[in-house]
Amino acid sequence: MRVTIDQTDLELVQGDITHQTTDAIVNAANSSLLGGGGVDGAIHRAGGPSILAECQRIGGCPTGKACITGAGYLAARYVIHAVGPLYHGDGDREQVAALLSSAYHHSLVLAAQHGVRSIAFPSISTGAYGYPVNAAAEVALTTVIAYMRQHTDIELVRFVLFDAGTFAVYRQVLERLMATDAPPQ
Ligand code: APR
Repeated sequence: MRVTIDQTDLELVQGDITHQTTDAIVNAANSSLLGGGGVDGAIHRAGGPSILAECQRIGGCPTGKACITGAGYLAARYVIHAVGPLYHGDGDREQVAALLSSAYHHSLVLAAQHGVRSIAFPSISTGAYGYPVNAAAEVALTTVIAYMRQHTDIELVRFVLFDAGTFAVYRQVLERLMATDAPPQ
């Protein structure tokens, strides 16, 4: 699925983030930046040791923020390590939503600062971090659309959803947002 918002394309695909040829791919990292499973494991496995070496030099990244490294053997130029929140069922919903939104927003700001024209995101926090996919998709897409309405520096934002279920949820949320959103200028 692809929509255009103020000269920027927003695309949803089902696939593997490590196969993307965008200028940057976003990692669903943890605050230690020392790797893990899921997206994190796949990116470090495919990208090779240079990414971890850079992450070790950076030394960590707070939840809700992002940092940037090279992409090692990956086709992308950069990996942006975004740290989403861990979702607790009884936690403060507003706070985790704000942290998730911040992780997406800071990834886009960092990408633009490095001249990135195309960026691929995974579904941050909806795996090991347990964020309900529907709620996360709403936060992710709302944040990205808001950024696209205020900036034209990035030409393509792609969400790479690993499984059909997550893809279907993101598609449903995007269709709803586009139906209710102000028409693109
Ligand atoms: N490409 C795209 N998406 C993927 C891939 C992949 N290769 N592998 C997993 N996913 C999907 C998952 O199915 C989920 O929908 O990415 C989403 C995020 O899942 P996680 O990778 O578990 O990330 P997150 O929920 O943000 O948890 C981060 O897990 O791997 C550790 O070090 C990481 O501690 C951190 C935590």
